[in-house]
Amino acid sequence: MILLNFKLYPETFGDSALKLSTIAKEVMKNTGVKIIPVLSALDAVRIQEKLKIDVYLQHVDVYSQGPHTGYISALAAKSLGIKGALINHSEHRLKLGTLKQTLKSWPTDFDSVLCLQSYGQLLRWALKLKSKYIAYEPREFIGNPKISVASARPKQIVNFVKNSNSNKILVGAGIHSKEDVATSIKLGASGILVSSSVIKSSNPKKELMALASAFSV
Ligand code: G3P
Repeated sequence: MILLNFKLYPETFGDSALKLSTIAKEVMKNTGVKIIPVLSALDAVRIQEKLKIDVYLQHVDVYSQGPHTGYISALAAKSLGIKGALINHSEHRLKLGTLKQTLKSWPTDFDSVLCLQSYGQLLRWALKLKSKYIAYEPREFIGNPKISVASARPKQIVNFVKNSNSNKILVGAGIHSKEDVATSIKLGASGILVSSSVIKSSNPKKELMALASAFSV
């Protein structure tokens, strides 16, 4: 599985989000690998309705319903056909209390991807929280075009896989090659998260095809 995080790169604004999501759908069809665009709340409903593919949000807030103003509701997202969301991404971190509250009121049948920056976080508190996926994303490699979590932290990936109870482990940060994906899968990850190497590429489809080809479907 590949989670393609659009972030707030200008290359993903408006119709460009539709273009990139269409590429993700084509690569998914060609390779059989599940690819989920991870979108801003402004794009997600439109993309899901137009392309009929699973999409995730990059974040949801602690409040899902009631007298609260200006929040992104997981419950509302689910009711609009959005499949899930990242939570606690390195670029949108939450205080532990808020994170616990958000996951406690997480809607059923709405995927959760709990993002962690370190193995210590997994051992100290993350295993006590309920989440469908745990994403290991050491911040220092996010956006790095040369070094990735797969090449720099293979032992930590193994630690996450071995000690994650029933949680499926995804890995991200600096992933930019077929080898990075192959290493991650070989070490036991169920999938990867990627952003800049695809979104900033001069040929996003070619880049995404290369990453997807590393999955032995
Ligand atoms: O959520 C995945 C993202 O943070 C990884 O970013 O640019 O290192 O692929 P990047």
